[in-house]
Amino acid sequence: MTILVTGGAGYIGSHTVRALQQAGQPVLVLDNLVYGHRAIAEQVLQVPLLVGQLGDRPLLDALLQGDHPLLPAGPVRAVLHFAAYAYVGESVTDPARYYRNNLGDTLVLLEALHAEAQRCGRPIPLVFSSTCATYGIPAPDQIPISERCPQAPINPYGRSKWMVEQLLADFGAAYGQPSVIFRYFNAAGADPAADLGEDHDPETHLIPLVLEALAGRREAIQVFGRDYPTPDGTCIRDYIHVGDLAAAHVLGLERLLERGGQHIYNLGTGSGYSVQQVIDAARAHTGRELRVIEAPRRPGDPAELVADAAKAMAELGWKPQRSELATVLADAWGWHQRRWG
Ligand SMILES: NC(=O)c1ccc[n+]([C@@H]2O[C@H](COP(=O)([O-])OP(=O)(O)OC[C@H]3O[C@@H](n4cnc5c(N)ncnc54)[C@H](O)[C@@H]3O)[C@@H](O)[C@H]2O)c1
Repeated sequence: MTILVTGGAGYIGSHTVRALQQAGQPVLVLDNLVYGHRAIAEQVLQVPLLVGQLGDRPLLDALLQGDHPLLPAGPVRAVLHFAAYAYVGESVTDPARYYRNNLGDTLVLLEALHAEAQRCGRPIPLVFSSTCATYGIPAPDQIPISERCPQAPINPYGRSKWMVEQLLADFGAAYGQPSVIFRYFNAAGADPAADLGEDHDPETHLIPLVLEALAGRREAIQVFGRDYPTPDGTCIRDYIHVGDLAAAHVLGLERLLERGGQHIYNLGTGSGYSVQQVIDAARAHTGRELRVIEAPRRPGDPAELVADAAKAMAELGWKPQRSELATVLADAWGWHQRRWG
């Protein structure tokens, strides 16, 4: 049977498709290509790509029932659900787009899964991409953040993810929908083969922005705030290698297929790096210089977000392998160098 990967032509989804392929799982990618990349799916991963919208219920029904020519191995056995829009700023100015896409389309998916489970008598597990943004601005004594930390997202993007978490809890309680919710911290890095990596347009993530500045493709890097209560005054984040996220998905999927249930895990390293430390490490790795522009704090940026990921490690046997900052930067730089020539 087939593993359906929504958003599999995007950054984290594409790395997870490769990990599934390496684990011998037949995969179908469903992506609307609003932000995903056809060439990554078709040429690099050589995975069947269905260009479509997650909220297309007749399409979902056909896939779940095994009635679609692109399915590589019959009906869908489980869904890894990455598809979402993820620009925090845009979610504030255009919340309708975020609730319709991230929440509305996911509700259509969950209804289709429930209908199919009733029809064929077997549940179809779902692995969902949530985010540390659902924690909002945790109090300093809540760092490192465990899954029990109260959730209080502060923007529509974070709220759309938090609402899906609640849908999953309710669908689990009422219909027995099996699920794993992964709350990622800051995804970063690239496949060490340098043929997959981060390619967001527009790019808002620190590491690619720093590397673009170091490569001379961006005039400067902006540092938003130097007056945070951190050792060097810049914000601290937990950078988790995208390959380690992909590995967690394979483990989470295996567990769900074996045992079912509803599970929530943070995915991070437990170590934070400041914006300044990332810039310094990237300078050191590339041996290049970049211009830094000091900018005021952005509203809603917490001083520190670091995961307590002990639960994923204990229950899934997951352990980050490539998430030291130097390795993350080396892999990301390899990918960008290959892309930019
Ligand atoms: N990148 C991070 O640091 C991070 C952190 C926390 C959570 N997440 C979540 O992880 C997931 C993947 O993030 P990413 O960085 O790979 O993003 P991405 O934009 O690279 O990938 C998302 C993919 O989903 C597709 N898509 C979006 N809405 C769709 C829809 N309704 N139907 C079909 N396809 C659709 C896009 O075209 C894109 O290819 C997202 O759900 C995001 O919210 C990412």
